[in-house]
Order: sequence, then C-alpha cells, then structure tokens
Amino acid sequence: MELLTRAIKGTQDLLPSQSHENQYIESALLEIAGNFGFKEIRTPVFEHTELFTRSVGDTTDVVQKEMYTFEDKGGRSITLRPEGTAGIVRAFLEHGLFNEPLPQKLCYLTSCYRYEKPQAGRLREFHQFGVECLGTVSPAADAEVISLGDQIFAYLGVENLSLEINSIGCPDCRRDYYKALKKYFESKKSELCPTCLDRLDRNPMRILDCKSPVCSKIAADAPIVLDFICQPCKEHFEQVKSYLDTMNITYKENPHIVRGLDYYTRTVFEFVSNEIGAQGTVLGGGRYDGLVEELGGQSTPSLGFAMGLERLLLLMHAQEIPFPQAKGCDVYIISVGEMAYKKAAALAFELRGSGISAQFDVAGRSVKAQMKFADKIGAAYTVVLGEDELKSGKLKLKYMKNGEITETPLESFAEDFMEITIRRSAGELEDMLSGSDIDVKKFFGGIG
Ligand code: HAM
Repeated sequence: MELLTRAIKGTQDLLPSQSHENQYIESALLEIAGNFGFKEIRTPVFEHTELFTRSVGDTTDVVQKEMYTFEDKGGRSITLRPEGTAGIVRAFLEHGLFNEPLPQKLCYLTSCYRYEKPQAGRLREFHQFGVECLGTVSPAADAEVISLGDQIFAYLGVENLSLEINSIGCPDCRRDYYKALKKYFESKKSELCPTCLDRLDRNPMRILDCKSPVCSKIAADAPIVLDFICQPCKEHFEQVKSYLDTMNITYKENPHIVRGLDYYTRTVFEFVSNEIGAQGTVLGGGRYDGLVEELGGQSTPSLGFAMGLERLLLLMHAQEIPFPQAKGCDVYIISVGEMAYKKAAALAFELRGSGISAQFDVAGRSVKAQMKFADKIGAAYTVVLGEDELKSGKLKLKYMKNGEITETPLESFAEDFMEITIRRSAGELEDMLSGSDIDVKKFFGGIG
C-alpha cells in the first residue's frame, strides 16, 4: 500500500488487540500505588525548556542530546517532557502542595520523549508509570518507595528481576569524589569522547553514564562514589538497607549505579532484567533532596521512581505472563427486517445502559453475515429478533459456547439477561470448583 506517511521512527501505535494489556497494567499500577497512599497527578506534555536543563542537568545525555526542543509561535523555548519528575516538582511548587500534609505522595502515567537511537525497549516516545514522594528525609520513605516497585512486579507476576541499589551521597561528600574522578579521567583524557571532555570540568560524574563504548570501558575502572560518602549519607544508606531487610526484599549493592539525571542524591536504585536485551532497566529512581530548592522552593528532601511501560510489557511477554481477557461482546442481537432492526437498536441501547456489552448490526449485513460476524467477534450470546419474535414477544437466547437456548420475554430481556448470565457463570464456576476444597454452597449462597 502506498501510504502518504508512516509513524515516526521510535514511536508505536497501541492497537485494539493490545490495549487491554495496557489498561490492565495501568489500573493495577494506580491501585497498588493507591494502597501505598500515592494519588494521581497529571502535568502537561510540554514545559519551558529551562525546567529540564535545570533539573535533569545541562551536562546529561538527556539534555545535551535527546530533548525534543522547539520554539513556539511566541518565540519561547519549549521541550516535550523527557521524564516526569521535573514537571511534577514544578506543579508541587506552583500549586503550593508543600502547604498540604507532607510527604506529598504523587503518582503518574505519562508519555515521555527522548531522541535516542531506537531499539528493543528504547523508543523516542515511551510511557512511564512513576511515583514521587515529596517532603521526607527518612530512610523509611526510601524503603517504602522501593518496596512499592517490588510489590508491583510481584503482583504482575514478573520474576527474575534484580534490585540494585547504591548511594551517590550529597553535594558535600561529592566534592572529594569529583576531585578523584577528575584526576582519574584526566589520565585518560586522550581517549574520551568530545562530550565527555566537556563534562570533565563541568560534571565528571556524567562521564560514568556515557553510552560510548570507549568511555564506558574507561568508566568501569573509575573510583566509586561509595568510598567517598560522608557519615550521615552512609548512615542513611545503612538504614535504607535495614528497612529493606526487615521487609525481606532482596537487593544487590551495585556501586556503579549513578543514574543518568543530575538531580539524584543519596539512594539510587534500579530493577534490572537480563531477559529483554540491552535495555534491561525496567524501573529506576532515587532521592533528589536538592531539586525542590533548585526550582525555587524551600529545602524539601524527596524521592521517587519511574518504570518504562514498554519495557515492562516486553518483560511480561518474554515471561509469558497471562493477561486477563479483554471484555468482549456479551450479546449480539441479530435482526431480521426493518421493524426488528429498530427494536434491536433500542434493545442494545437498553442493555448497554445496564452495563452489558451489546451489539447489533450497523453495517446493513444479511442475517447470515450477522451470524458470522457475531461469531467472529466472539459474542458470548446471540439472540435473533425478527417479525416472529416481535409478534410472540419471546426471544431465544443462544449461549454460543454450547448452543444452549434459553427462552425469555422480549419485554424483560435486559433484566433477564443479567440474571441468566450470572446464573450460568456461577454454574460453570461451581462445576470447575467441585472436587476442590472450597465450600461451593457457602461460596454461592443463594444463587441457583
Ligand atoms: P529514567 O531512568 O531516565 O528515570 O527512566 C525511568 C525508566 O523509563 C527507565 O528505567 C526505563 O524503563 C524507561 N525509559 C527511559 N528511557 C526510555 C526509552 N527511551 N524508551 C523506553 N523506555 C525508557 C527517570 O525518568 C526519572 N524521572 C525516574 C525518577 C522518578 N526518579 C525519581 N523519580
């Protein structure tokens, strides 16, 4: 097919055959986060560019190479959000959420934009679920946020993820670390990429997450931040670990995690998989104790994480984790003749009003074609509505799974349908459970 244009490289369409998987994941994420006290927040897809240069940091790959930045018609520099945290901290300040009880626990589902080289699990438009916990310095909050990540994966049935944690200290203890890093990278100066040469003076820690193979090889032997962190940061990290131990959450200390964004302080963590290729970090986060101040607020120690939904789905598919079935068509009304057609429309409308997924022919199909169509869309029941049925006032409801027919009055069809289907589902469940330990009678009470 000769198309005018195709989707932009690194973007994906979510088709109807897949959307129920996202709906399932997204509602589970919001619900689990809700159990932890996180409430949803939504912020705009674009922000003033300086929000990201200041928070994510102007020496990061994200800001230097990956942002979708453009001038709007008013001459302002605008950027499509490359991540969710900065916009949320801006909203926290702008709407005075700091005046509400702290910590403010916020969660979000959001699209993000980064001009990266697309590959499996790396897109230019991708989606994150994230949480931000603003206004607490307690290591218990670090453990709580990490445990939320752990509980999400457990709920979804995802296995074999490695939780890796590190502490990258605070600006105070990082001073000596920067000196040591600078000294180390100075000795390898001739091999560094031009971007990292610039970082050497401005922010040597950023060289540690350069994606160039040469720089990352050099970075592997660089001094590690954990050897330089101050006593309060060390104690904080020890406390975080002891909370995780108490919750029986398994983790690995990985001194090489520094994260790719500048705002992080103290605890950083990632949930990593080795089953989805090179882009194995499914969830990443950490503390950002200085960010609220950086954006104009009072000192408000905070932390959070974000997980990539495309990576999560890749992993769930790789592990063949089953998803709940998409809700299908409960009943298809096959109509015969003009009068019946109108009645079918009214009946479908009534059924839908009672929360039943009902369909009738809106394409002018023949009766045979309507039957075929009902079968194709997997309608659980069909009912034929023609002149005879209109005259007799009785409908024959066919259960498609076994062809069983139930006769019901046309007048009370919408009410009866609900009862018939509940009765049948209960019966099927009872058959399934008979022989198991569950007390079926107690389970179903009065039904049937
Ligand atoms: P991040 O590590 O840049 O952190 O991204 C978080 C997650 O988003 C990654 O672990 C990955 O699953 C997904 N992700 C990132 N880039 C891409 C991409 N190009 N394609 C597909 N998925 C991607 C943040 O964004 C921080 N805001 C997280 C955070 C929240 N830290 C504290 N609070």
